[in-house]
Amino acid sequence: MSVVSAVTREEAGTDAEAIARTAHPHIRSFSGRRGHFTAGQRIAYETLRERWCLPYRNEALDAAAVFGREAPLIVEIGFGMGETTARIAATDAARDFLGIEVYPAGVGSLLARIEAAGLRNLRIVQRDAVEVVRDMIAPATLAGVHVYFPDPWPKKRHHKRRLIQPPFVALLASRLAPGGYLHCATDWEHYAVQMLGVLSREPLLANSAGEIALGETAAQCRGFAPRPAWRPLTKFESRGLKLGHGVWDLLFLRRTGPSEDRARE
Ligand SMILES: C[S@@+](CC[C@H](N)C(=O)[O-])C[C@H]1O[C@@H](n2cnc3c(N)ncnc32)[C@H](O)[C@@H]1O
Repeated sequence: MSVVSAVTREEAGTDAEAIARTAHPHIRSFSGRRGHFTAGQRIAYETLRERWCLPYRNEALDAAAVFGREAPLIVEIGFGMGETTARIAATDAARDFLGIEVYPAGVGSLLARIEAAGLRNLRIVQRDAVEVVRDMIAPATLAGVHVYFPDPWPKKRHHKRRLIQPPFVALLASRLAPGGYLHCATDWEHYAVQMLGVLSREPLLANSAGEIALGETAAQCRGFAPRPAWRPLTKFESRGLKLGHGVWDLLFLRRTGPSEDRARE
């Protein structure tokens, strides 16, 4: 029996947490450049933050208390300007959403959308998602995680800054409830291939797309998923499509029951 296979499901969260604290200390997946607010974003940021942003805390979030109900919780990491986030939350009123973003203008933009659309099932945490997921999300609690068009960090020397790395994926998987999903999308082929490799190697996850083959190019790989109807086109995706990039979706499910233990052997 390997050392990893001795880890129980309850312990998996702690295990991933330890990994996140050590192997993934603080290589930030975002740049320090913060861009500029439009007037509307600034006003929203200054007037609506208290209402719809949750402060970062080093303690598990009580989602039922925050949203005033028991509902499946979906986390979106790096929502940018929040167009997609707001549209998904508006069309899926039965679920609650937590958007995580570091970019103040993006937070202002989503705050304005929450207010304009009267969304009651969406909150924001402005903080590094690695810290939010590690510290505020209890193990095995999330119904889903969305990571749409994360920064591709195209230069080889910057690949270490990509968000989808084994330690962070292990942490995300540990926060998913059994049967919960991790949905990623990118328009950057090299990153798509990396994502497929990293997600396929995470023992707690199973690819929903069935047939799997890893390769060096997307064409050599099998295991990408069709874009689910509920994921609208994002701004970065539209930009990528205009540049002639492909788009790759990856949809993995948190394993349940005995298969989870087998995966760890
Ligand atoms: C390329 S943009 C994509 C935005 C949006 N998902 C879309 O598809 O239009 C990536 C976003 O992720 C945010 N981001 C990167 N790393 C992050 C992290 N560790 N925590 C929170 N946000 C992060 C960046 O600030 C940026 O807004």
